[in-house]
Amino acid sequence: VTIPNGPEPFGVYVHIPFCTKRCDYCAFATWTDRDHLRQNYVDAVVTDIARSVNRGQRVATSVFVGGGTPSLLSGAQMAAILAEIPVSSDAEITIECNPDTVSADLFGAYRSAGVNRLSFGVQSMVDRVLIGLGRTHTKHSVERAVELAKRAGFGSVNLDLIYGGAGETLEDWKATLDAVCALDVAHISAYALTIEAGTPLASDPTRHPDDDDQAEKYEIASEIFVQRGYENYEISNWSRPGHSCRHNRLYWAQGNYVGFGCAAHSHQRNSDGSSRRWWNARTPERYIELVELDRPTETAGEDLDPSVVALERRQLNLRMSTGVERSAFHNDDLDEFFELGLIAEAGVDDQGEALVRLTMKGRLLANAVSVRLIGDSATSP
Ligand SMILES: C[S@@+](CC[C@H](N)C(=O)[O-])C[C@H]1O[C@@H](n2cnc3c(N)ncnc32)[C@H](O)[C@@H]1O
Ligand code: SF4
Repeated sequence: VTIPNGPEPFGVYVHIPFCTKRCDYCAFATWTDRDHLRQNYVDAVVTDIARSVNRGQRVATSVFVGGGTPSLLSGAQMAAILAEIPVSSDAEITIECNPDTVSADLFGAYRSAGVNRLSFGVQSMVDRVLIGLGRTHTKHSVERAVELAKRAGFGSVNLDLIYGGAGETLEDWKATLDAVCALDVAHISAYALTIEAGTPLASDPTRHPDDDDQAEKYEIASEIFVQRGYENYEISNWSRPGHSCRHNRLYWAQGNYVGFGCAAHSHQRNSDGSSRRWWNARTPERYIELVELDRPTETAGEDLDPSVVALERRQLNLRMSTGVERSAFHNDDLDEFFELGLIAEAGVDDQGEALVRLTMKGRLLANAVSVRLIGDSATSP
């Protein structure tokens, strides 16, 4: 359903919890042994969305189908899900794909269903590093997938990268950056490998990343991307002008969104500045069961009072190239951060308040700077 006119931003997230193999670093809600549930799961998501629309769900300005591996669903299954979601005529509609689970037919079906952005989990363009991360695809699969995406008419493609995998040398990382830049896509995300509890990586300290190595890789990546015409608009995200991810910007602007499928999160802002976050049952079985019983799929949630929302806003803005108000820090902290070269002036906001943003050095120490942010209610000395 497509609705004209650009309404207030509203996001829809759909979680697809199936993968062919679990990567060694991944702790996301996804399963490799539940393929028999796929159709029931799609039916449940469709029913859940239809009920929400009947209750007055807003028109979406962005839709993100993430996973797991959404590209494991057939084109018809994906189209059935997307057909239920009312979207604005200019909505950004992204599907997350694994490079070795795509085809020209699948992309054709995506185009017919209104999809206009693809995000590929690439991680590395060095096959040895990919094997070390537990990935199933190769550099060649990525090149083929991006070629298919372009041929199908996708002008907006994102590639996710991970740096700091076991055995990844600086030369490997530079080779990945060169190979990715050669694909000339609109958007790149590069994440430091993090060790998540319960993953094969967590139980193998010999494969844990080194902080200094990751810092160096981050700096090299940022330098190369900027040289190639990408703008760093969030710590881990670079885009060609006009191609930043609208859906992620909605999250970072604390906008309203609803999540469908197991483990999906939702967020609603209230007029008094407070907000509420909630999330669905974690397993696909439980989610399907709740939808079939016509019971709420939510399992837990939290209410955030205005001061918490305000502090989170500053934490999120600090990660963005726009930056935060100077008054978000105590004056002595500001002086220290300027002296250490962690922050720089960044103009003024709509209200004329002076802004500061992280420098390259600051981006590497973002967490240490972020913990010194103060909530709106606190006063600067
Ligand atoms: C949830 S995954 C889904 C994408 C898709 N299934 C894929 O991996 O090809 C989204 C992205 O999160 C990132 N990611 C997942 N686990 C990570 C970790 N432990 N450390 C850093 N990045 C991670 C990867 O870059 C991945 O592409
Ligand atoms: S990183 Fe992606 S492909 Fe790998 S297990 Fe996680 S969701 Fe699946």
